[in-house]
Amino acid sequence: MCGIVGYIGHRQAYPVVIKGLKRLEYRGYDSAGVALLNHGLKVYKKKGKVADLEDSVVGLDLGGQVGIGHTRWATHGEPSDRNAHPHYSASGQLAMIHNGIIENYAQIKEELQHKGYTFKSDTDTEVLLNFIEEIRNNNECSLEEALRIALRRIVGAYCILLVDAADPDTILAARKGSPLVIGIGKGEHFLASDASPIIEYTKEVVYVNDYQIAIVRADELILKNLGNEKQTPFITRLDMELAAIEKGGYEHFMLKEIHEQPQTIFDCLRGRLLPESGMITMGGVENHLESLIHAPRIIIVACGTSWHAGLVAEYLIEELCRIPVEVEYASEFRYRNPIIHPGDVIIAISQSGETADTLVALENAKEKGAFIFGVVNAVGSSIARLSHAGAYTHSGPEIGVASTKAFTGQLAVLTMMALKMARAKGTVSDERYRTLLHELHAVPEKVAAILKDTASIKAIAEKYKDASDFLFLGRGYNFPVALEGALKLKEISYIHAEGYPAAEMKHGPIALVDEKLPVVFVATRDRFYEKIVSNVQEIKARKGRIICIASEGDSTIPSMADDVIFVPDADELVGPMLSVVPLQLLSYYAGLAKGYDVDKPRNLAKSVTVE
Ligand code: G6P
Repeated sequence: MCGIVGYIGHRQAYPVVIKGLKRLEYRGYDSAGVALLNHGLKVYKKKGKVADLEDSVVGLDLGGQVGIGHTRWATHGEPSDRNAHPHYSASGQLAMIHNGIIENYAQIKEELQHKGYTFKSDTDTEVLLNFIEEIRNNNECSLEEALRIALRRIVGAYCILLVDAADPDTILAARKGSPLVIGIGKGEHFLASDASPIIEYTKEVVYVNDYQIAIVRADELILKNLGNEKQTPFITRLDMELAAIEKGGYEHFMLKEIHEQPQTIFDCLRGRLLPESGMITMGGVENHLESLIHAPRIIIVACGTSWHAGLVAEYLIEELCRIPVEVEYASEFRYRNPIIHPGDVIIAISQSGETADTLVALENAKEKGAFIFGVVNAVGSSIARLSHAGAYTHSGPEIGVASTKAFTGQLAVLTMMALKMARAKGTVSDERYRTLLHELHAVPEKVAAILKDTASIKAIAEKYKDASDFLFLGRGYNFPVALEGALKLKEISYIHAEGYPAAEMKHGPIALVDEKLPVVFVATRDRFYEKIVSNVQEIKARKGRIICIASEGDSTIPSMADDVIFVPDADELVGPMLSVVPLQLLSYYAGLAKGYDVDKPRNLAKSVTVE
């Protein structure tokens, strides 16, 4: 949540910061702002997207070689010019941007109010900034020292950048719980919430750790802990190309990312899945195979789309490995004092690796002695670093707010993992194992076949775009796909949609069915095929409008449906990687037809670093 950018060096800061903010807009986009150190401290901010900020500053003096910028996802205070970051301190000497939530801000605000402070915004950020300034004034100490004292008092999560008109050669930064990367150039430094604003200038970066403060100057980077001890910056080389974060000719990132899936799934399998030799190579799994296969229980912790990948993994692991699996919403898991037995394994699934609910749930579980295996996309992210072991999904940067290629990447990793564990445990037959290796290997090509002709999916989306509600139904491995289809439609087209196990219809939701309600069945040929045919009949008898995802060559389901989207035949264990693709496209085209910003749907943000 919230994107943070900073620059200090020999270039003009404003263009670097604005470009960086556009790259981070997926993190929040209800207001944006910059602070520039240019013969004094100047702040420009505006409700709306980064483009609105740009429009509002045309003709102004935007010079200066030091700048910080912010794109906001509102927590404290409505989206507005006055709540936009950066915030000035009471004296106007300091400006700060912040990603995260200061939980004890109300108490600090009250203390400050007693001392006569007034506030221009409703944000927790302005409270923290004035708190820092108050400490500096009271203790007559440096800003760095005041920052350290303040950070020791506050509860919550933060990544902050702080500038001082009296020290125009320094940016102070600090993090706890919200990400911060610093790019190292020649006589310049770049600061950002992720590497995407940095990649075109340098590939050398330092990931700042929790409870570290960075003192950043054009030619100097000092890291310290909150006890004022210097810490050696650990420089990492980014393995990412600029092209990966650009649209590459597609109208939207979401469409690009949907179309990238044959390649991203292939990249995920590459070097790991060796169907000819019957092998799966996954270092993270191999090194901990005994703990994994003898786990009395596996708990999967995730949010959103990643949680849906977790549901598919539950089916896979229980079926193939015969280990009981529970799939937990991270936000619930973390607060209910969960029971964790010795030997329990937690699989954390996260695209960004920064989702606050997942991260804190894992920290708690780790403290209780659980073994954490991370299935993460963003390399070097907080969840990746917190995990004892893991496997990256290698899906590349996902920028569209709705998750698409990360989901299929997660499924590819989890399927390989389940197969590898089952093989080691002896719970899968040789023949089944080999069949599934070949089935998995064939997935990228089958996804490419689905993507060859998307015109019919676009037409269906346009036909039903004005519906006020949708139902998505599936059974077995296709049940989580139905949930994911419903989530995608909600996110992108703002149409109310619900996902259900198809057999659950008769226990309530069928009351909703009338001649206006589109019902999407994920009804590919699997062990539930006959059953789902009956479920389709039940909806048809009540005049619902039936859209089916069906297997190529099937004629029964299509004969009952109003509209059909075919996907190649596949084993049901790998089927979700195929059947979800038309649903991603359906929501994309529905959002597009309704004129919405599909890459930045309202109220959402991609990386949810607040709880
Ligand atoms: C947000 C995003 C979703 C995502 C969820 C979990 O809500 O909008 O697309 O599925 O967070 O994110 P993660 O990065 O942990 O997978």
